[in-house]
Amino acid sequence: MLIEHHNERYFVLDDPELTDAEYDELVGKLARIERENPDLASDSSPTGRVGGEVSTVFAPVRHATPMMSLDKTTSYDELLAWGRRMERLGAATLAYTCELKIDGLALSLLYEDGRLVKAATRGDGDTGEDVTANVATVSAIPAELFLGGSTQAGDSRTHSSKGAVPSRVEVRGELYMPIAAFDELNRRQGEAGARQFINPRNAAAGSLRQKDPAVTAGRDLAFWAYQLGALDGGPSFTRHSETLAWMRSAGLSVNPHIELVEGLDLVDAYCRSWQERRHTLDYEIDGVVVKVDDLAERSELGSTSRAPRWAIAYKFPPEEKTTRLVDIMVSIGRTGKATPFAVLEPVIVGGARVSLATLHNQDQVRAKDVRPGDTVVVRRAGDVIPEVRGPLSALRPEGLPEWSFPTRCPVCGESLVRSDGESDTFCVNESCPAQLVARITHFASRGAMDIEHLGESTVRQFVRAGLLGDVADIYGLDFERVASFEGWAAISVVNLQTAVETSKARPLANLLVGLSIRHLGATGSQLLARRFGHLDAIAAASAEELASVEGVGQVIGASVAGYFSLPANRVVIDRLRDAGVNFAGPADVLVPQVLAGLSIVVTGTLSRWTREEAEAALEARGARSPGSVTKRTALVVAGRDPGSAKLAKATELGVRIVDEDAFEELLERGLPDT
Ligand code: IVH
Repeated sequence: MLIEHHNERYFVLDDPELTDAEYDELVGKLARIERENPDLASDSSPTGRVGGEVSTVFAPVRHATPMMSLDKTTSYDELLAWGRRMERLGAATLAYTCELKIDGLALSLLYEDGRLVKAATRGDGDTGEDVTANVATVSAIPAELFLGGSTQAGDSRTHSSKGAVPSRVEVRGELYMPIAAFDELNRRQGEAGARQFINPRNAAAGSLRQKDPAVTAGRDLAFWAYQLGALDGGPSFTRHSETLAWMRSAGLSVNPHIELVEGLDLVDAYCRSWQERRHTLDYEIDGVVVKVDDLAERSELGSTSRAPRWAIAYKFPPEEKTTRLVDIMVSIGRTGKATPFAVLEPVIVGGARVSLATLHNQDQVRAKDVRPGDTVVVRRAGDVIPEVRGPLSALRPEGLPEWSFPTRCPVCGESLVRSDGESDTFCVNESCPAQLVARITHFASRGAMDIEHLGESTVRQFVRAGLLGDVADIYGLDFERVASFEGWAAISVVNLQTAVETSKARPLANLLVGLSIRHLGATGSQLLARRFGHLDAIAAASAEELASVEGVGQVIGASVAGYFSLPANRVVIDRLRDAGVNFAGPADVLVPQVLAGLSIVVTGTLSRWTREEAEAALEARGARSPGSVTKRTALVVAGRDPGSAKLAKATELGVRIVDEDAFEELLERGLPDT
């Protein structure tokens, strides 16, 4: 019953209450119960069927052959067990196609004499919905196949020659919405005060299943063909990979990452590699589909009532889960920015326990229409900060009030202000304790003055005790008082004292970063430090002079000038100077930008450079030096004991790896030609 209910929500109403992974788990549980208790299983059990009922909005279409589901696994062991079964049952030559499992919705496209005559959704697997008019508006789906010959009706070529034209061919594939299109659509929906979509798959489904095809036409949908269905006339195929090549040559889009591999080791490697790289794609995938390539072997293997035996879906660990939104709170950052965030009933998602997730700003909360008490979809992809994608509106308790942004700072009680044309709201009270703690913590953080042992909780303790009122107070800390605090052993106090002392010599750019000047980040600070060479010169410069520095611009220029124009800030600067904090920066030696725009990754230990120096040298020449290798990486510099994951990734992506000598040459002359 429960599964029936979720089937309907997913397949018929496009308004699911569970994430896919949760649904799969539910069906998996039932299948297990049925296996263990065969007398409980019935013909009408959801485990024997594919989808939900058929909706009444679109005309029903009976599929020529059922559109089956796939057996799924979430473990490599099970995947390999499936493969070994294939190898036992099949002939000796087991080649597999490995395909990305696109997270969209399955479509069946019927072409007669090369023309698209019918497009249908999967529906319950036997009968889908006629969405021809809507699909006709999707430019990624050709109205006519390119068959390299006449496509006239009655064309009477022999059936089995390769160049022949099928009189009827059914193409199956996945309709999906690229991530960029999804973000853009949600932005537009938000602006129009319309409901936002929870994920790209929902957006694709919602965009397709429109009464008015003009709405579908306005949505950016794409399609990957992955399977031939019915075929009358035309070429004959012996391998799945041939059908993919044929579909490609006929003008259908076939995913470029499909690989034909031999042996289970390579299947395993394909799955692992894409699980790592899934976020390099501009569409969402939720796993890998592995298919036996030989079509004769497929027929021998056959199907169960629900799924073919010759294919399996390896599903990645889910990055989306549902949970309850307990509350929405607002945090105050170091610039006073008030950021709403979701307090969640904890869930494990994307491999981590998530109990807080950002909601970005007031407009985002409104656009997503999330309310405390909602069941929400939470996503955590890779290293990205967890995000609330949206509420499951079907599960909203009745009468749940809309959430409204507070008008007062939750910490100091002063007004929160949102200026015209800005999306962010600010607590404008400079001495708001929340801002103080955030600003001082930031000043002491690694990217700024790097004061060890002065983390957020310590700062909060010191602010509360009245020891710290601004960043300059760090250099006048009353260490005797600190020593009197509980938990502060003599050695801890000495460590902190040393760290504070050491930080005075940090480079000018770090000091600039530490001042929490709005819009001024690490790059802008580097540029200003290099150009002006001294904090006093920066403080004396006009907004125009600051803005004229290449890469700085007006917003930062105005913000920096504004900061130094405030007497209170001048006082802090003077106190930092009196404390002996370094104000001098590197002289403005104009370094030729021989590496402009390149992304160069450094890994391992170099003998003549520290990591910081190497990265600074790259940045001074216009390059970026991120921590991970992606397809945008131009070069990897490897020292002693390099990161093996980085090297493997570089090798896989064909990114060149060079040593320290080549690195120094690079700094001189830029990227070599070959
Ligand atoms: S083959 C009988 N290949 O995953 C085999 N499916 O539960 C039919 N999907 O309904 C599916 N990418 O919507 C196949 N490369 C791919 C796929 C794929 C995504 C979807 C499809 C199907 C579901 C399986």
